[in-house]
Amino acid sequence: MKRNLGALPAVFPMPVLMVAAYDAAGNVGIMNAAWGMMCGRDKIALCIGEAHKTTKNIRESQAFSVALADLKHMAESDFFGIATGNTMPGKFARSGMTAVKSNYVNAPVVTDYPLVMECELLEIVESEHLHAVVGRIVNVAAEESALDEEGKVDVTKLNALIFDQFRAGYYLVGEQVGQAWDAGMEMMK
Ligand SMILES: Cc1cc2nc3c(=O)[nH]c(=O)nc-3n(C[C@H](O)[C@H](O)[C@H](O)COP(=O)(O)O)c2cc1C
Repeated sequence: MKRNLGALPAVFPMPVLMVAAYDAAGNVGIMNAAWGMMCGRDKIALCIGEAHKTTKNIRESQAFSVALADLKHMAESDFFGIATGNTMPGKFARSGMTAVKSNYVNAPVVTDYPLVMECELLEIVESEHLHAVVGRIVNVAAEESALDEEGKVDVTKLNALIFDQFRAGYYLVGEQVGQAWDAGMEMMK
């Protein structure tokens, strides 16, 4: 028996993305964003509000990076979603984390996170029902420790966080239980 819960953001899991961009003075700005997704093999869309300091930075610098938050940096990552660079200068520095400039785009790459996507801004979509920053991923920088023997990212080694919109929980990625494009193959026969 299902209970009707009304209109809820009910997609699960959501990622815990750390979106970073330089301000006009070259300072690192960063925010936490759960409403992000791939929209093509090399494109990413982030539903982030116009008022955020990070969004302004992205408009100015025309680039950004997106890191996957990991368990080790949960407190810092949550802080990036509470504080705003609009009223807290030095927000990123306060976390104690460090960043270097991307070799590919005009955006900071946070060194502490295990995987960072380096993106150029393609467009900011502003319509009645959508405000989305769309970027092209030009490079993914991943820690060696997060790779398998073939050099592919092994998500079991990332310790990546996922976000639960129902109760605002952070969770760790769980165990692999199947293989896509394979688990349903039996019914193709
Ligand atoms: C778990 C979590 C997820 C969030 N996801 C989003 C999001 O997807 N879009 C958004 O606009 N804000 C999101 N926020 C809020 C921003 O991170 C927050 O407003 C932050 O202060 C913006 O920082 P800035 O002004 O320095 O850019 C999220 C916050 C948290 C804690």
